[in-house]
Amino acid sequence: MLQDLRAALGPQGCLTGADVPEAARSDASRTGHDLPLALLRPASVAEVSAALAICHRHGVAVVPQGGMTGLAGGAQPQTGQVALSLSRLAGVEEVDGEAMAMVVRAGTVLEVAQKAAEAAGFLLPVDLGARGSCQIGGNIATNAGGLRVLRDGMTRDNLLGIEAVLADGTVLSQMTRVVKNNTGYDLRHLFAGSEGTLGVITRAVIRLRPLPGPRGTVMAALPDFASVLRLLAMARSALPGLSAFEAMWRDYFTCSQSHLTHVVFADPPPFAVILEADEGPALEALLEAAFEEGVMTDALIAQSFAEARCFWAVREGLEMDAAMPGLINLDVSLTTGRLDDFARACRVALLARFPGAHVSFYGHVADSNVHVAVHVPGASDAEVHEVDAIAYGVVRDFGGSISAEHGIGTLKRNWLGYSRSPAELAAMRAIKAALDPKGLLNPGKVLPG
Ligand code: FAD
Ligand code: LAC
Ligand code: ZN
Repeated sequence: MLQDLRAALGPQGCLTGADVPEAARSDASRTGHDLPLALLRPASVAEVSAALAICHRHGVAVVPQGGMTGLAGGAQPQTGQVALSLSRLAGVEEVDGEAMAMVVRAGTVLEVAQKAAEAAGFLLPVDLGARGSCQIGGNIATNAGGLRVLRDGMTRDNLLGIEAVLADGTVLSQMTRVVKNNTGYDLRHLFAGSEGTLGVITRAVIRLRPLPGPRGTVMAALPDFASVLRLLAMARSALPGLSAFEAMWRDYFTCSQSHLTHVVFADPPPFAVILEADEGPALEALLEAAFEEGVMTDALIAQSFAEARCFWAVREGLEMDAAMPGLINLDVSLTTGRLDDFARACRVALLARFPGAHVSFYGHVADSNVHVAVHVPGASDAEVHEVDAIAYGVVRDFGGSISAEHGIGTLKRNWLGYSRSPAELAAMRAIKAALDPKGLLNPGKVLPG
């Protein structure tokens, strides 16, 4: 099989043994341990198709890999499996101003695609903290959410066309640039969020939006969660250009800020919100009204792009992630009004089992989505599993979803039944069996055994 793969992909396209980089073991959850049998690096759709056909003939499992920033273990191989990286299948093919669409290869880094759209006068409406490493293909495969979902939706909402290669090498291409296309089952939405289990995404057409005008970025201090909800309601009705509304509970703000060189609030408030909207009188009027009502106790308005980035740095928490190896980032959604009740119950349950652990909350409250950061220094795999079991138990009690945006991968597979019914799981298995009857594409991911 390796000889066939080398012949089809060339020496640069098929790395084995000591040439396989360590980075192929794990995504950003840092829970992957195994090196793949080979790392395939196809540079064209035809090469992806050839590689999959060869692996299919030999009955060897293939694990698609994008930028490896996933947080669910979805791109992590097991010994004996082959990893297929999309990194060489990169580049923006076209920005079509008339169709307001961009044709992009799956291995293109999100930020590269964002900049190409901007250079042509458009906004690529997907944005997340991992923008500098994650790839368009990975964003589609996880149906990534991120920081602007409130205005622009998830990745699938911005997907016009898609090309994917099935496990046996069959190329399915529906690279349409039209918004309306009701010609039978919509395969786009099967691949969006399929986490590499149904096909390898090779190219896509992404919908573009007009570039927004000057943005106002505000970091607000709020006394309680009721005020967060009130500010959200006020912002939604008063600011048509509202593009972000991100909340941090005090414990998260304090921890994230402590790993930065700048101080935003020396005395972190119970809740901090980053609000982003069109600059101008509507935003100013909203801030005034919120102060008058006592919804906000303080508000900093970024005076420059650099200052706005300082606000976002606290929210994105990249330094905190780096300083706390093994930090667990859970990603759940439940009714917006109950997010703080959930946070309280989840904190109590986790601290009862792991006294002294770091437990903090932050996230996309406008999307009913909160992240739970948990750090149990030196935790074993079994203890990490316990953290998941405890937190997802609370999510189930609240009728929530165990994954809002990061996906299921391997890390949440055993709890999928908390959020999906047996009938839904059976339908998912039927789709998987129809598209990948030998079960060779990213086996063991998403669906419980
Ligand atoms: P990978 O991690 O390489 O893969 C993810 C999954 O997709 C795997 O199952 C893999 O098999 C599959 N896959 C990858 N490429 C393809 C392809 N071409 N075809 C088929 N399957 C493929 N996520 C959010 O939703 N919102 C956020 O706000 C957010 N913020 C983040 C911030 C940081 C700092 C980090 C580290 C991660 C964050 N994430 C966030 C998670 C992650 O960035 C996203 O899930 C991202 O979409 C993954 O893209 P990737 O290219 O790194 O995929
Ligand atoms: C975020 C990632 C963790 O929102 O989803 O920062
Ligand atoms: Zn998130």
